[in-house]
Amino acid sequence: MEGGVGISSAAAGRRARSRGASVEDDLRRMVARELHDRVAQTLTGMLVDVENFKSQQVGWNDVLEQMDTIQSSTRQVLSSLRQLLYELRGEVSVGDQFTDSLGDLITRFEQRTTIAADLDVRPGWPEVLTPPASLNLYRIVEEALANVRMHSGARSVTVVLESRPDGQLAVTVGDDGRGLDTDASRPVGLGTVGMKERALFLGGRLRIESEAGVGTKVHAIFPKEFLVPAEEAAATH
Ligand SMILES: Nc1ncnc2c1ncn2[C@@H]1O[C@H](COP(=O)(O)OP(=O)(O)O)[C@@H](O)[C@H]1O
Ligand SMILES: [Mg+2]
Repeated sequence: MEGGVGISSAAAGRRARSRGASVEDDLRRMVARELHDRVAQTLTGMLVDVENFKSQQVGWNDVLEQMDTIQSSTRQVLSSLRQLLYELRGEVSVGDQFTDSLGDLITRFEQRTTIAADLDVRPGWPEVLTPPASLNLYRIVEEALANVRMHSGARSVTVVLESRPDGQLAVTVGDDGRGLDTDASRPVGLGTVGMKERALFLGGRLRIESEAGVGTKVHAIFPKEFLVPAEEAAATH
């Protein structure tokens, strides 16, 4: 009996290790590809430029111009490296298409639970968000949905993204479950603390509203200029 358990847990360990190894392989391949595409190619291009430049008869202005080009390529390489490091540290960008990523999250949620889930993107919600806004809003909705799945007993949940008349952007995750005690004296869990911290980090705030029997709403609001790239915010004024 003991032997049987030993064998199956050893097999499970092997499976977990090989799963871990394949994730690691994927990551290594991704890093290699990105280093090649974003960094090595730009550096090679710079070397070729310098080589060509040395073989030409040039004046001082040409030298200055060439220095400008090299500087701008260097900046480009550094910015690619910064982006790669940001992704490697685990804060993987959810991409430009925040609403698409959220749509995928909600579809997966529906597939794994028996709770009907909807995404309601109201007119006026911006097309593009900054990378930190996308990532943190995504994580907030992810945690709110995890709570709906684990604690609410809800039949349905809706995620609403809206632009309010006062210029603020609002994200609401509302379920029709059992509700919770919102008394401020009640100790809250790490999930709630994390959602509040992420909202504060983006310059907004998050509240949880609930009445027993009518469900729970996680509601976060943000000044628009804190979530959209500077050029976009300027374009709408
Ligand atoms: N949508 C919800 N419906 C009912 N209860 C909830 C809901 N979300 C959170 N809760 C309650 O609030 C508690 C704290 O949630 P949270 O801070 O995410 O911590 P955790 O999920 O780790 O328990 C949960 O344990 C649960 O009792
Ligand atoms: Mg939780």
